[in-house]
Amino acid sequence: MRVLVVGSGAREHAIVRALMRDEAVSLVHCAPGNAGIAADVPVSALDLGDNDAIAGLARDLAADLVVIGPEVPLVAGAADAVRSAGIACFGPTAAAAQLEGSKSFAKDVMESAGVSTAEAASCKTVAEVESALDRFGAPYVVKHDGLAAGKGVVVTDDWDAAVEHARAGLNQPDGRVLIEEYLDGPELSLFVVTDGRHAVPLLPAQDFKRALDGDQGPNTGGMGAYTPLEWLPAGTVDHVMKRVAAPTLEAMRERGTPFAGLLYIGLAMTSRGPRVVEFNVRFGDPETQVVLALLETGLGQLLLAAATGRLGSFGPLAWTEGCAVTVVLAASGYPQSPRTGEVIDGLAAAGTDPQVEILHAGTKSSPGGEILSAGGRVLSVVGTGGNLRLAADAAYRAIARITLPGSHYRSDIAARALADDITVSEAK
Ligand code: AMP
Ligand code: GLY
Repeated sequence: MRVLVVGSGAREHAIVRALMRDEAVSLVHCAPGNAGIAADVPVSALDLGDNDAIAGLARDLAADLVVIGPEVPLVAGAADAVRSAGIACFGPTAAAAQLEGSKSFAKDVMESAGVSTAEAASCKTVAEVESALDRFGAPYVVKHDGLAAGKGVVVTDDWDAAVEHARAGLNQPDGRVLIEEYLDGPELSLFVVTDGRHAVPLLPAQDFKRALDGDQGPNTGGMGAYTPLEWLPAGTVDHVMKRVAAPTLEAMRERGTPFAGLLYIGLAMTSRGPRVVEFNVRFGDPETQVVLALLETGLGQLLLAAATGRLGSFGPLAWTEGCAVTVVLAASGYPQSPRTGEVIDGLAAAGTDPQVEILHAGTKSSPGGEILSAGGRVLSVVGTGGNLRLAADAAYRAIARITLPGSHYRSDIAARALADDITVSEAK
């Protein structure tokens, strides 16, 4: 099988590596990729905003499967374009990608599917916003409706900050904001691979969205992750598959917009049971880096089965026992104004440990062969091991050997799980 992976982050690097381990995959090609991906497989330049170019590249490569990593091309119809060219694609149609593309669409689907989520009010004026904030009380949760690369959501106790974020959303074209009830409790991400009808869960993972230790600082694309979640009550994944994934997929079929691809279910484990915080329509970053590190089943075979409606006859997934932890190395100034073009050193030494995988995100090669930073999140350093402690130690040992001027990373990824400090309240 020949596979084209579209995207350029550490998530795509993890997907490329997992495909390379699948014996059914004869070619992996990535576009546009990054310096680390280019060291593993052939890459080509690609404008992610050009659906015809994506489909054209897939045709030129005689690809059997295209895997689209990021949400922006999915929401813009890249998967539709690939399928119109007669090529199997892992990724939802533009219509189904509205589950991520519009938070109010996702809320409508959840409502019609009877899926438990935060109560929400969709507001078009400041007056509506203020009355909803009053009704739900602090902490205030304010969400812009459309795609915002992690910057659309503010959770705050500060009334003025909540109203200000809402105003910014209302001022956008077709501005609409969602004011939500605050969901308490630990969060997790569950990835569900689906052909629209059948659905297979991957290992649940936890990510760390805030920039600084102790969940302080601004929201980011994600600063680290680990899997599996030993603190998660037994039966949670089954419960979520029955009460969230299955009814959501059914509702999408009934609307005439069946969802095939990866349904990312972001959950909060509240005292009233699991509640959906958000849906995404693609692999999460950086959770993918840890989940795929433990996947033994061939990823190409799994994604092709999902892309061609054959997941019902796909056997159970096989996982490596043990744990994986990833720590993201971020550029100076990330997330506000990342500095790029700095030399990254120590990669070779850090990568010699067999328990470590160095996945690249924002990197590029200089003409002289150095690896330079080229984005906010620069590397995703993955450690694996027989337990969470060993996996975290491997990741932290490796990242400490890498130098990038001004860079920063969180030192507490998986720390609360290691300290047995995560509790899920009993559902009442
Ligand atoms: P979203 O873009 O909807 O995923 O939200 C980003 C992050 O904001 C989530 O991962 C949560 O940490 C937080 N968040 C979103 N909605 C809520 C909510 N209703 N209650 C508490 N936290 C939330
Ligand atoms: N890790 C969060 C996301 O991918 O949206």
